[in-house]
Amino acid sequence: MKRDIRSELSGIIPTELIGLVPRSFDVIGSKGRAVAVIEVPTELEQYGASIGEALMCVQRNVMSVLSKGTERMGGFRVREMTLLAGDPNTEVLHKESGCVFKVDPAKAYFSPRESTEREKITSQVTTGERVLVMFSGIGPFAICIAKRQRTASCVAVEFNPEGHRYCVENIRLNKVGDQVTAILGDVREVCPALGERFDRVLMPLPKGAYEYLDVAIPMVKPGGILHFYHWAPRDDPFTEGERILTEAVEKLGGKAEVSDRVRVSQYSPSAWKIRIDARII
Ligand SMILES: C[S@@+](CC[C@H](N)C(=O)[O-])C[C@H]1O[C@@H](n2cnc3c(N)ncnc32)[C@H](O)[C@@H]1O
Repeated sequence: MKRDIRSELSGIIPTELIGLVPRSFDVIGSKGRAVAVIEVPTELEQYGASIGEALMCVQRNVMSVLSKGTERMGGFRVREMTLLAGDPNTEVLHKESGCVFKVDPAKAYFSPRESTEREKITSQVTTGERVLVMFSGIGPFAICIAKRQRTASCVAVEFNPEGHRYCVENIRLNKVGDQVTAILGDVREVCPALGERFDRVLMPLPKGAYEYLDVAIPMVKPGGILHFYHWAPRDDPFTEGERILTEAVEKLGGKAEVSDRVRVSQYSPSAWKIRIDARII
């Protein structure tokens, strides 16, 4: 029977606070060696080390436990993490959909929860497509696409040097060096200098992608697809994003034909991460 983190902590954390111990956490890594990332409520901060130890007891492959210290901060979208317990080396190998990703979650963004979203995008890519992945992080979108669609090729642009370094390493580990090119730099400078347009452009930066629509739209070939991510209110998730997207396209003299509207994941009780797909004419 699977042991429960709360029962591991009974006698350590007072009964009136035990209900605050989170039962869910992200596990990044493999069966042999993984890192867990957990959000410790303020009321339990003094018990951080015990929570870390308890988590390692209930999930035996977890060698290090990181606490989500803050909201994802700054441009790199990396959380300020604290090591609660275990090995200070938090670099791991994570397997997903036939790909392997090396990452240190304390240094670069990676979310195992987004594997279904990566599958959904990957399954849309057809023979011979050229794909631009803006905000590419450690490379999961570009690498999943390249592995599944061997005739497709991708350019992946990321400005966090650690994220870019892992992307280069992951391209090598997944043997897709002939299909994926990783570029270190700000999309605002890198993309216009690429000198080509793409069949498909991804903008996986929900908090702020809209500020880069003026860069992304001219990168799409006429008739190509733009995948635009956005944080949206739960009650009306698509109106604002669709307006921002269509206005940005029209401002540049084009037309956006929205082909799909997707609720990707819930960010908070009131906010969703959404995706709007549009054909740019
Ligand atoms: C939400 S993460 C997504 C990473 C990756 N696509 C994934 O799915 O794992 C957004 C990434 O965009 C990068 N980023 C933010 N602004 C950028 C910019 N102006 N140019 C290049 N990269 C940027 C951040 O460093 C971060 O790695």
